[in-house]
Amino acid sequence: MLPRNFLVFLLLIFTFHLPPLISAENTTFDFPFFTVRNLTLLGDSYFKNGVIGLTREIGVPSSSSGSIIYNNPIHFFDQESNITASFSTSFSFSVKNVNPSSFGDGLTFFLSPDNQTLGSPGGYLGLVNSSELTKNRFLAIEFDTKLDAQFNDPNENHVGLDINALTSIKTADALLQDIDLKSGNLITAWIDYKNDLRVLNVFLSYSSLKPPTPLLSVAFDLSGYLKEDMFVGFSASTEGSTEVHLIENWSFKTFGFLPVRPKSHPHNVSDSSVTIISDVPVSNSTNKHHKGLGLGLGIAGPAFFFVVLAVFGYVSVKKWKYMRIENGLKAEILTGPREFSYKELYAATRGFHSSRIIGRGAFGNVYKAIFVSSGAVAAVKRSKHSREGKIEFLAELSIVACLRHKNLVQLQGWCAEKDELLLVYDFMPNGSLDKVLHPEPETGILLTWSHRQNIAIGLASVLAYLHQECEQQVIHRDIKTSNIMLDGSFNPRLGDFGLARLMDHDKSPVSTLTAGTMGYLAPEYLQYGKATVKTDVFSYGVVILEVACGRRPIERELSSQKMVNLVDWVWGLHGQGRITEAADKRLNGDFKEEEMRKLLLVGLRCAHPDSAERPSIRRVVQILNNEADPIAVPKMKPSLTFSCSLTVEDIVSDDEERKTTA
Ligand SMILES: *[C@@H]1O[C@H](CO)[C@@H](O)[C@H](O)[C@H]1NC(C)=O
Ligand SMILES: *[C@@H]1O[C@H](CO)[C@@H](O)[C@H](O)[C@H]1NC(C)=O
Ligand SMILES: *[C@@H]1O[C@H](CO)[C@@H](O)[C@H](O)[C@H]1NC(C)=O
Ligand SMILES: *[C@@H]1O[C@H](CO)[C@@H](O)[C@H](O)[C@H]1NC(C)=O
Ligand SMILES: *[C@@H]1O[C@H](CO)[C@@H](O)[C@H](O)[C@H]1NC(C)=O
Ligand SMILES: *[C@@H]1O[C@H](CO)[C@@H](O)[C@H](O)[C@H]1NC(C)=O
Ligand SMILES: *[C@@H]1O[C@H](CO)[C@@H](O)[C@H](O)[C@H]1NC(C)=O
Ligand SMILES: *[C@@H]1O[C@H](CO)[C@@H](O)[C@H](O)[C@H]1NC(C)=O
Repeated sequence: MLPRNFLVFLLLIFTFHLPPLISAENTTFDFPFFTVRNLTLLGDSYFKNGVIGLTREIGVPSSSSGSIIYNNPIHFFDQESNITASFSTSFSFSVKNVNPSSFGDGLTFFLSPDNQTLGSPGGYLGLVNSSELTKNRFLAIEFDTKLDAQFNDPNENHVGLDINALTSIKTADALLQDIDLKSGNLITAWIDYKNDLRVLNVFLSYSSLKPPTPLLSVAFDLSGYLKEDMFVGFSASTEGSTEVHLIENWSFKTFGFLPVRPKSHPHNVSDSSVTIISDVPVSNSTNKHHKGLGLGLGIAGPAFFFVVLAVFGYVSVKKWKYMRIENGLKAEILTGPREFSYKELYAATRGFHSSRIIGRGAFGNVYKAIFVSSGAVAAVKRSKHSREGKIEFLAELSIVACLRHKNLVQLQGWCAEKDELLLVYDFMPNGSLDKVLHPEPETGILLTWSHRQNIAIGLASVLAYLHQECEQQVIHRDIKTSNIMLDGSFNPRLGDFGLARLMDHDKSPVSTLTAGTMGYLAPEYLQYGKATVKTDVFSYGVVILEVACGRRPIERELSSQKMVNLVDWVWGLHGQGRITEAADKRLNGDFKEEEMRKLLLVGLRCAHPDSAERPSIRRVVQILNNEADPIAVPKMKPSLTFSCSLTVEDIVSDDEERKTTA
């Protein structure tokens, strides 16, 4: 039986003589909050609790640029009808300065033919590439918080219309309507362009009520710049400042496209059928409906059927799509990390009782948490934080929270209350690789060769994910066996990704060194303190040598009491053509010699003193999966000369310290 409103719908269609075939549709979308869905993040932009941050959010001045772009292209022009759409958008944003004297540079809303629009930091507003000024094409409204003489800015608090360049076509001082763009308050902006009037208006308000008069009104014909397919988004930049640019919500629509008639119509629907169907009163009984329908079918024939099918299809596809999106969003909310309350974690760890401590690190203790209500078990990392540490922590958290890989210790949630930072992770029953590889009394589990190979491959694949595959590149900085956990099946799970650094954010990398970390750090990291993907590759190389040999990266030789560096030791054996003798003696030769040789050589190559000679982690994955040929390793470890006299042996003064890094 057909629903009544469907019949009304049919009537409407038939009154228009022909089903309208639309060649260009008006677009509408609305983001009451943001998720990764339908948006592309470029540069330093990120999501945090449903809000978009466009530039890095840290307490120290930095130069940064980022943009976000709505994934689907939007039609602004219809060739067939020669119509340019009008558009209207509104969004709420805030610009605040962690340090009020450190402001700049501002944000823009832009339309561009390119879905990869990202520009340089500083006065370029994340929109223009400083080395190729004409590369990015755009039509933008800037909300500029810095006076840039280069672009004829009037002051450090203005709104302007920019086309393909940052020198505005027209600007307006936001103070004219008592708006201070960088006050930190939530500001709502409305941008309207009416193509028939050729006028663009920008309204700003601290409230959600649109003011009666626009702040900026530009009489300008944009039709030459509004192309058939355009992308819309936001960009922002900082230049050695602490300015934070956040977008809270966004709605957008185009309008003005007319419903168009199809060019040809093979099936004519006669006017008589329309009249007959229209004669059937809609509010009448079902029987009558059937009668009317029967009449319509008889007269309109195949065209009628076609429309019925099309409409049904349209309605159900739409409904299905809607349900799918809704379910997807729900899943995202349910599975993502969440904020825990301090009370909840306090109860689950029996008040952070010492009997619940399962690890100790430089940052603080790790506790086993048992949630009484659900019976779930988790690991909780606890550390103190300062005020400024918290902001940095939350910014980094928003990146880490989006990471998903089977070889990562999954973050379940966090808590930042009472001057403490608490991180809740999946509980790993087999503890850390460090503990399994070097058990204190020589007892317990022995990792087999296939376990070890699995660890090497799993670790390489999660690093490839962090370095190259996830939305925002993550450099781990602290890869060592004590940060690698083993799940119930001895699969490796990398922990502490990116956050380790934040736990002791106010210390320089070298000052936080313990002997346990030392052996994993690349020479250039020790020298310049700068972490890169290649410093991660170095640490990975050391870890897999440790896994293959069962020896610590720096070990005191029993006979001579001399400190032995694992990389040097394996390289020495390689030079003598007996590299496989480095294999862990506890394996009792229970491995394929070729495979052992390959793993050790990959380890050496990754631990090459010259960062340029280390392979990318993706290459490592391919080599270990036999998809690429191994890379040759020189017989002699190449030496790297430093300008400073500090050597590895000088820094490692106390190898007892390593035991404190859990
Ligand atoms: C996301 O994109 C899909 C099509 O890819 C679209 O149907 C949906 O409406 C979009 N969602 C939003 C919020 O724009
Ligand atoms: C399209 O419309 C513009 C004005 O809106 C007009 O100048 C132009 O000649 C039209 N082009 C065609 C092909 O009709
Ligand atoms: C950009 O647009 C092109 C063509 O419209 C599309 O093939 C490509 O996947 C888009 N890239 C992104 C990152 O959305
Ligand atoms: C600017 O353009 C150059 C060359 O196309 C490119 O390598 C660089 O990444 C661009 N810079 C930004 C910030 O997009
Ligand atoms: C965005 O949020 C603000 C404040 O909650 C609200 O006033 C405004 O109407 C919202 N705008 C959109 C487009 O959702
Ligand atoms: C687009 O919006 C206009 C209102 O400006 C409306 O008259 C028109 O029917 C819409 N076109 C389509 C194809 O929905
Ligand atoms: C359809 O109708 C048009 C005008 O209404 C007429 O010119 C055409 O011949 C008709 N085509 C058929 C197949 O009846
Ligand atoms: C149903 O249709 C009859 C004529 O067929 C009409 O007299 C009657 O008023 C209609 N009922 C309603 C509720 O409109």
